[in-house]
Amino acid sequence: MLLQNSLLKKLGLTFILSLFLVLNFNFASYSQTSGEVPGSSLGFNSDADLWRYIREGNKGNTQLKNEMSAVMIQSEGDNWRSIRNGPLSRYGAYGLIGIIILLAWFYSYRGRIKVAKGFSGKTILRFKAIERFSHWLMAGSFIVLALTGLNMLYGKMILLPILGPELFSTITLAGKYAHNYLAFAFMVGLGMSFVCWVSHNIPSKLDIDWIQQGGGLFDEKSHPPARKFNAGQKVVFWAVMLGGFSISLSGWALLFPFETQMMSKTFGLLNMVGFNLSTDLTTLQEQQLQQIWHGIVGLVLIILIIAHIYIGSLGMQGAFDAMNTGEVDRNWAKEHHGLWVEEEDQKAKNTDKKGSVKQPAE
Ligand code: HEM
Repeated sequence: MLLQNSLLKKLGLTFILSLFLVLNFNFASYSQTSGEVPGSSLGFNSDADLWRYIREGNKGNTQLKNEMSAVMIQSEGDNWRSIRNGPLSRYGAYGLIGIIILLAWFYSYRGRIKVAKGFSGKTILRFKAIERFSHWLMAGSFIVLALTGLNMLYGKMILLPILGPELFSTITLAGKYAHNYLAFAFMVGLGMSFVCWVSHNIPSKLDIDWIQQGGGLFDEKSHPPARKFNAGQKVVFWAVMLGGFSISLSGWALLFPFETQMMSKTFGLLNMVGFNLSTDLTTLQEQQLQQIWHGIVGLVLIILIIAHIYIGSLGMQGAFDAMNTGEVDRNWAKEHHGLWVEEEDQKAKNTDKKGSVKQPAE
């Protein structure tokens, strides 16, 4: 216990220190120029002066009127870079560190959620092989996509100074290939998991009770009734399905650049419900918006999945078995999914009855 407490204190201190470092990290220094024109070759002191010069020059200068000149004066590119290296990276880092602190706090407060009645020694089949295969195809590919994606966003700030340019570029290039190809495995796993579980994830009145009782997470004695999936799991399911679908679409647009207009079409739809967004986007702006959206959805999903992984492994005794062997202890199942156990037992009785009616006739 003493060891556990001192370990927790050390963990807590490390998190607080990391948070402090991130809060003080100067993300702006990773923007393209930090306000300085690289090399000051044209004698400008700021990005604004440079862009003004190019824009002004372009008006009367026919030499620049080709496709490349359009790219040269595309000021939105600078906005995109500063959003990516500014708020996107900064708030993403806050979210990632925040969820780890929250989970460390929850663990110190509640400990590992135990099976109140202890293991019964009898099991019940929770997930068939096809369900586990779908889950692990989606989960395995997602974890690699998440790590390689985080490297694309933060690697230059964190790994490059530690590993040096050669090792960092080898790892990043391999990561980029893994990211591109495993995206397809993720999409297949996502589709299969959707088909397996959608019927169990339709919201119901029970979910309101579950939420009102905090899912029993904060009270050892409370076990709000649930069928196969409780309200918390339904939130995870729909977030993964909708977020996974959206991130797949934006990923597709990034894999096959300049071929889709999904952003301008989405903006068109949003304008129909009261927004006022420009639908006249250049192909480059499409790509930039897809990239920012891909980053936002990716970070939100990673933050959510860190919590999911915690509760499916370290955070709850007996939970991991469901996705490992597929068989869970009956006491665990009754405590967390009591109504589902009743349904399964009823199904088993019905099949037994059918079997016993058939048998005399054979
Ligand atoms: C090491 C990583 C992971 C572990 C240990 C894990 C564990 C689990 C477990 C034990 C369950 C079943 C819970 C139950 O019996 O009720 C589950 C369900 C599920 N997992 Fe995972 N999982 C992992 C990664 C992921 C990832 C990366 C995703 C999605 C990208 C994901 C999505 C889901 C979904 C949608 C469900 C069904 C809804 C739910 O139970 O929340 N899992 N996972």
